[in-house]
Amino acid sequence: MRIRRCAVVYLEPREQVEFDLSVLLGGGDGLRRDRRWMALAPHLGAEVEVTGAERELLGELSPGQWVEADALADRRDIVERLLREGLLVADTDEHGAMRARDETLRGTYWHPLAATLHAFTRWTGVDTVQNQKDSGTETAVKMRDVLGAPPVEAARRADANALQKLPRLAPTSFDDLLARRTTCRNFDPSRKVPFETFAQVMQRVFAAQAEVRVTDDTVFLKKNVPSGGGLHPMECYLIVQHVEGVEPGLYHYQSQEHALEPVAGPGRPLREFVMDMVAQQHWFADAHVIVLLSPRFDRTFWKYRHHAKGYRVIALEGGHLSQTLYLAATDAGLGAFITGAINEVELEQAFGLNPIHQGALAICGFGWRGQVMETAELDPAERVWVKADG
Ligand SMILES: Cc1cc2nc3c(=O)[nH]c(=O)nc-3n(C[C@H](O)[C@H](O)[C@H](O)COP(=O)(O)O)c2cc1C
Repeated sequence: MRIRRCAVVYLEPREQVEFDLSVLLGGGDGLRRDRRWMALAPHLGAEVEVTGAERELLGELSPGQWVEADALADRRDIVERLLREGLLVADTDEHGAMRARDETLRGTYWHPLAATLHAFTRWTGVDTVQNQKDSGTETAVKMRDVLGAPPVEAARRADANALQKLPRLAPTSFDDLLARRTTCRNFDPSRKVPFETFAQVMQRVFAAQAEVRVTDDTVFLKKNVPSGGGLHPMECYLIVQHVEGVEPGLYHYQSQEHALEPVAGPGRPLREFVMDMVAQQHWFADAHVIVLLSPRFDRTFWKYRHHAKGYRVIALEGGHLSQTLYLAATDAGLGAFITGAINEVELEQAFGLNPIHQGALAICGFGWRGQVMETAELDPAERVWVKADG
């Protein structure tokens, strides 16, 4: 059997601090501090605690060169444990599953730090609403109390007399559209979004508008949003809840065909599923259409191999799509939102995504705004709510 180290692993000396009465009774501060070595290997997606001897062996073995395991016979137990955990890989069938994961990561050309960030910042089962309550930060006033004052709302770099003032020009219909863009947290599920309105928003935001065919297997799409390298890695998955003519359920949007591809349902009520996906933010759960922004990392990293900016570029693209979605929805008389507070692991499972190839970046949504503002929206200039009240 030949072995080598997995492609990417970072070692973190971690301190865990816990209350311990015996420390307090002994005259201390009541806190017990334990230090451990954690191995963060993105192809595993879960941390592994390692001993000093295991840590040393990881440093000794090459991620590129295979060596005979027999050469490490004096440390057989350590090798076996690291193989079991997937931190070492072997060329045998028995260790094929871990080797395949490692090879998937190698073949996707991640920057190692970006791969690690991506793998270890995914949520599962998080209830962000409860977390805010527990920390006493669920309103702006409470946040100020708990966190103190934030950094100033806008930076100033010169004295007032050094300012070169710019003219404020008369608003056009575009300014009016921008002014009516407000994150919607109050949806009215009793009214369906018309099929054509839904189709128009999808067409404007996510559809391929044209293409450049370099060769049969190398095609670049033109869309209404910019994209790093013109690669458009972002796939759009949908949870359709209340749209005329569309069966509620999960879909993939095919951007060249401008068509919905059905995906198997979550096997439980859609709204309950949506609540888990948006980390219990009930104010988004009634949106008529939920949109998962799901980048295919391998598409962007095909060009930007091991690139320090690759992951950032993909995250920025989420912002372009989101803003275009907000504006398309606003233009259609609908409300829209984006949230980064999502349970990625459950989303990956539901849509069948391998997070090394394809992730869950953010959730957006759109639909009819409700008549009553039950959850706060930021509309200080009253551009949305006064209009809604007539
Ligand atoms: C990347 C991103 C993530 C956001 N995540 C959340 C979220 O988790 N929950 C939420 O209620 N709003 C979320 N928002 C919306 C912001 O709270 C909102 O944009 C902000 O309060 C300004 O209000 P406006 O969009 O109406 O101008 C997010 C916005 C952005 C850009």
